[in-house]
Amino acid sequence: MITDLNGATLAFDRTDNHLVILDQTLLPKEVKLLHLSVPDEIFEAISVLRVRGAPAIGVAAAIAMAVCAKNIKMQDKQEYFTRLESIKEYLASSRPTAQNLFWALERMMATARQVEYLSISQINERLADEAELVLNEDIAVCRRIGGHGAMLLGDGACVLTHCNAGRLAAVKYGTALAPVYVAAEQGKKIHVYVDETRPLLQGARLTAYELADAGIKTTVICDNMAGSLMAAGKVDAVITGADRIAKNFDAANKIGTLQLAVMAKHFGVPFYIAAPKSTFDPDCASGNDIVIEMRSGSEIAGVWRESAAVPPDFDYNPAFDVTPAALISAIITEEGVHYLHE
Ligand code: MRU
Repeated sequence: MITDLNGATLAFDRTDNHLVILDQTLLPKEVKLLHLSVPDEIFEAISVLRVRGAPAIGVAAAIAMAVCAKNIKMQDKQEYFTRLESIKEYLASSRPTAQNLFWALERMMATARQVEYLSISQINERLADEAELVLNEDIAVCRRIGGHGAMLLGDGACVLTHCNAGRLAAVKYGTALAPVYVAAEQGKKIHVYVDETRPLLQGARLTAYELADAGIKTTVICDNMAGSLMAAGKVDAVITGADRIAKNFDAANKIGTLQLAVMAKHFGVPFYIAAPKSTFDPDCASGNDIVIEMRSGSEIAGVWRESAAVPPDFDYNPAFDVTPAALISAIITEEGVHYLHE
């Protein structure tokens, strides 16, 4: 069990008015829950990846809106809404790529606006209800993604995944790993190859951790081993998550996803993206419109090592890349498996 949150990896403590997250920067060495209630600490938690993964960021942001709304001191409704709007804008600036962040913040703001005729404390209750709904929907939606995706995996299947799009990246099942978890529930033996995922090692630190916790056979590989694995016929399917999917189905995900898709195409391995509908951005016509987060070059140079592994002053660190729809076999959502090229 990763946490004592009833199998979930983040929660809404409504009694004490806290967003509860598992600090993912400490995993796998230390399992530590953080109780957050201040916009600055929530902003920090998202931007340094204490809570990360598109659906988890979205759910955390929804809970954050409910928690922070309750802490607004203003009694005047207009001032209350101005403050709520500024908290929303502030949290929206914590990371630029995951669509779920903006989706959740807009949903919470729209919820408040819909009931603006109520008293402030009633609006706060409505926001808290909505945050709980967002959390519970994430669990249900990811479970459905898992059900659809599991049908693509036969007994003994070998899946290759990148970064962490498992339960740590959502609330309970995750997206890319949901098919693996559901297939395992169905009694299928699945073997997951996990890219370590440079530079922040979400695969090695997080995906391997949660799969081992769930008793799924797991092999961590260096990112540069994926091609030779596919060439050897050891990969039946590649499944990754997505941070944002454009209207033409180009999909942004952790840097390194694109090269997996290119190799999968070359070796005839199906390449699936698993994501909820809340990851689709109706305002992005194609992947060219997706903002790619640029992070500090220091993450490449040495964050996970005792001493810097790279000489200083290297500063190219895009956190995501865009896989063109042409390289994606199908997108697995809560509604089903959507084949892109039939
Ligand atoms: O920078 P991160 O760790 O937030 O990147 C996460 C990913 O790229 C995930 O694959 C994506 O958010 C989907 S999570 C279900």
